[in-house]
Amino acid sequence: MIKRLLSILTTLLLTLQIGLAQSFIKSVSSPNAQIQITLKFYDQGEISYDVRYQGKEIIGNSRLGLRLQGHDLSTGMTKIGDGADHKKGSWKPVWGEVAEIEEEYNGIKFELKAATGQRMNIVFRAYNDGVAFRYELIELRKAEQVAVLEEISEFLMKEDMTTWWAPSDWDSNEHTYTHSKISAIDATKYLTDSEPFVQHIVNVKAVQTPVTMQAASGVCLSIAEAALIDYGALHLDLDSTAALKFQAHVIPSANPAVISVNQLPFNTPWRAILISPDAAGLLSNHLILNLNEPCKIEGDLSWIKPQKYVGIWWEMHNGKSGWNYHEKDGSISTRHGANTANAKQYIDFAAKNGFSGVLIEGWNEGWDDWFNVARAEIFDFKKPFPDYDMPEISRYAKEKGVKIIVHQETASAIPSFERQMKASFENIKANGFDAIKTGYVGYIQPKGQWHDGQYMINHYNRVLETAAKYQIMVCAHEPVRPSGQHRTWPNYMASEAARGMEFNAWSKGNDPSHELTLIFTRLLGGPMDYTPGIFQLEVNQFDTSKTERVRTTVAKQLALYVTLYSPLQMAADLPENYEKRPDVFQFIRDVPTDWSDTKILNAAVGDYVTIARKKKGSDEWYLGSMTDETPRNFKVKLDFLDEKRVYEATIYEDGPKSHYLNNPYPVTIRKIKVRKGQTLKIKLAAGGGTAISIK
Ligand code: NOJ
Ligand code: CA
Repeated sequence: MIKRLLSILTTLLLTLQIGLAQSFIKSVSSPNAQIQITLKFYDQGEISYDVRYQGKEIIGNSRLGLRLQGHDLSTGMTKIGDGADHKKGSWKPVWGEVAEIEEEYNGIKFELKAATGQRMNIVFRAYNDGVAFRYELIELRKAEQVAVLEEISEFLMKEDMTTWWAPSDWDSNEHTYTHSKISAIDATKYLTDSEPFVQHIVNVKAVQTPVTMQAASGVCLSIAEAALIDYGALHLDLDSTAALKFQAHVIPSANPAVISVNQLPFNTPWRAILISPDAAGLLSNHLILNLNEPCKIEGDLSWIKPQKYVGIWWEMHNGKSGWNYHEKDGSISTRHGANTANAKQYIDFAAKNGFSGVLIEGWNEGWDDWFNVARAEIFDFKKPFPDYDMPEISRYAKEKGVKIIVHQETASAIPSFERQMKASFENIKANGFDAIKTGYVGYIQPKGQWHDGQYMINHYNRVLETAAKYQIMVCAHEPVRPSGQHRTWPNYMASEAARGMEFNAWSKGNDPSHELTLIFTRLLGGPMDYTPGIFQLEVNQFDTSKTERVRTTVAKQLALYVTLYSPLQMAADLPENYEKRPDVFQFIRDVPTDWSDTKILNAAVGDYVTIARKKKGSDEWYLGSMTDETPRNFKVKLDFLDEKRVYEATIYEDGPKSHYLNNPYPVTIRKIKVRKGQTLKIKLAAGGGTAISIK
């Protein structure tokens, strides 16, 4: 009741304060009354909104609207109705960081009509962990199609906050992150960054989403999108007319003037603003998942299995073997990694160590000439190279209780993959396998489309839906950044969609703050197949001329299994490197990939994080802590443990003189007894980490 009165009072005050230009104003507060959205309709038929957090404006008056071909839905609109909405409930994800997610919001809606008659609703929701809005286009005539030309969604920031951003690139998510004030965002340095192979940056004053910001008060925000379906991805332009204003920059189709063509009725993706009092709160935020539709896969879901896997993968990146079967001169390569004997060795290693999956890359026809080619036909998704005996590998894997994760690199030749997709999935099932890794290296064919445009968004979603029909799990590399679709399609286990571990093998690499930035930005939309677990950190094992290295300690590699959430986690290094350090490898063998509870014990964006998670269906806890290049000491309270129980904690920590550059290998392993309420000291080396299993 008091909350209600407060909300009515604020609405009244706001109406008085803003004056007469608005002919209608409506506010709504989050269930805990901390966040308030106000939606305004002006006499000239324009719409705007603002957002307050704990009484303070955090998003100032910002315009809303769409421009369609033939209909301007941003001005000259008539308001024909409005409404309110409330939901309170909870749901259980098939897999995830917690067993159950609360879902509660208060919503408002404006129903609008353009001069041309086209109708649109603007729908807003206030949750306890942020706000979101979307546009709903109403169907007036049967089978009507519209072309969206522009989205006018603004975000006027009220403070020049520290911002962690990656450049707006229509074709790549594989850049490094930068942090700066909002006003200093400038991606010019990325224009000459050739490492992501393909790139298309059209505005250096623009960023990809989720983009995360922190105010001087410590309050954190992230602007993101949720449920990206049938539309281009959301990037943000820094508006040159108002220093701190972001404006939606939706990646267009091959026609630069058109964002998307949609069949009505159509809802745009949600524009979400995650809000939290501190950095830790961002990591327990469920806004993006809550904005996605419930699971659409019917019936038995037991085939969707969170799991760890190994693979014929890092050995290609570190130069031990290759993807190609023939050399350039036509001779047969002596280094082809995906051969039957090697596959069996990885299967043996997986079976011995309790891994369910073995990823095998470079097994099918096409790899001899695939890289940086813009051709319509590249790969055959069913036909193995002659030294890869698929039926025998399938038989052997089955005997050992392991499944192959079948690599489907498309080299972005999309029509070719789509044409072969069903036959490929049938073949995968016929061999007894149930997971694929797709890949989208290179420029999109058909030419002119972008990795982040509607054509590709529809492709990624079509792969998920088709795979679900075949009961196949999907891990995608180089797709658009996730926006919580794994609630709807829980067979979407993970994606890369950012700069992964591979960059440490052949580029200037990822600096020690990289993973600590990913967690607070890219990972807000969904799990990442980062591929942790490298023990041989200097990448010159097979090619002594290589100077590349992984910029962490080994203990930090272990911590990543807890801190960087994914239901699909690779133990990315070679079996022979794990066999050299079985005591350290034990943590990777033990750590689960599905959790019933998660506690963020401390966090600072880009700097450090400590997370404890409880294994689903068990009393075991796992803790991961990691830092950037600054060594740190923490005291964490184990008050999440069960009362009156004594646990055995196995602590894997940096050695006393560890350093990510000059002494990254030492890991001290010790066992102690712990109880609820006890304080644990954590000591992290520069670029270091700690991983703990608590049983
Ligand atoms: C890039 C992917 O991220 C990597 O995992 C894969 O090995 C190569 N493409 C080849 O498909
Ligand atoms: Ca990649």
